[in-house]
Amino acid sequence: MKGIVFNLMAEMVEEKFGLEVWDALLQATQQDGVFVSTEKYPDEKLFELVAAASEKSGIPANDLVKAFGEYMFPHFYQQNQNFFKPDMTLKEFLLTVDRVIHVEVRKLHPDASLPEFKYVDECDEELTMLYNSPRKLCMLAEGLIAGAATHFQTEYTLEHNECMHDGAEHCKLHLKVA
Ligand code: HEM
Repeated sequence: MKGIVFNLMAEMVEEKFGLEVWDALLQATQQDGVFVSTEKYPDEKLFELVAAASEKSGIPANDLVKAFGEYMFPHFYQQNQNFFKPDMTLKEFLLTVDRVIHVEVRKLHPDASLPEFKYVDECDEELTMLYNSPRKLCMLAEGLIAGAATHFQTEYTLEHNECMHDGAEHCKLHLKVA
């Protein structure tokens, strides 16, 4: 993952738990905490930070990763407002993630670690996103979707019945929007 992801994680941990906690996590995972936004760092380093944070806080890793996704969203929005059209709905936005946003991210950063989403768009109020990635960060996707829903002021429910962590080929994120 890119340094920007690590820097956002540092920001979230410092904001929510304080600088000492972030320092302790860096120490526990033997990292210096210097991350250049556009440079790539091993995914394992991020997973180690999450595991250390989970151990220290007693909060399950899945919940931490989801909270991180939710925290990331407004930052992605701030930095990429051109992807957001006025009057866009949450569903319209989510359909652009794989077809437009991540395509543009990939053009700018060919080495970016991005997931693949396939969509099943059966009716107006529902959308199924099939998440696939060797990183299995489906909970990050859930958090980003939660962040997007807050941004679009849209209530939704999400079912995540098939999961790569249980051996499924992809994660099935089925959304119903109000
Ligand atoms: C609800 C909307 C979104 C979802 C569900 C989503 C999903 C994800 C997930 C799950 C990852 C982690 C990598 C992986 O799973 O393999 C990721 C990475 C990333 N996404 Fe998205 N994303 C969303 C919106 C955005 C937006 C608005 C941007 C802004 C440009 C963006 C840019 C990126 C970048 C830069 C990375 C990290 C690439 C790297 O570290 O190499 N995403 N996305």
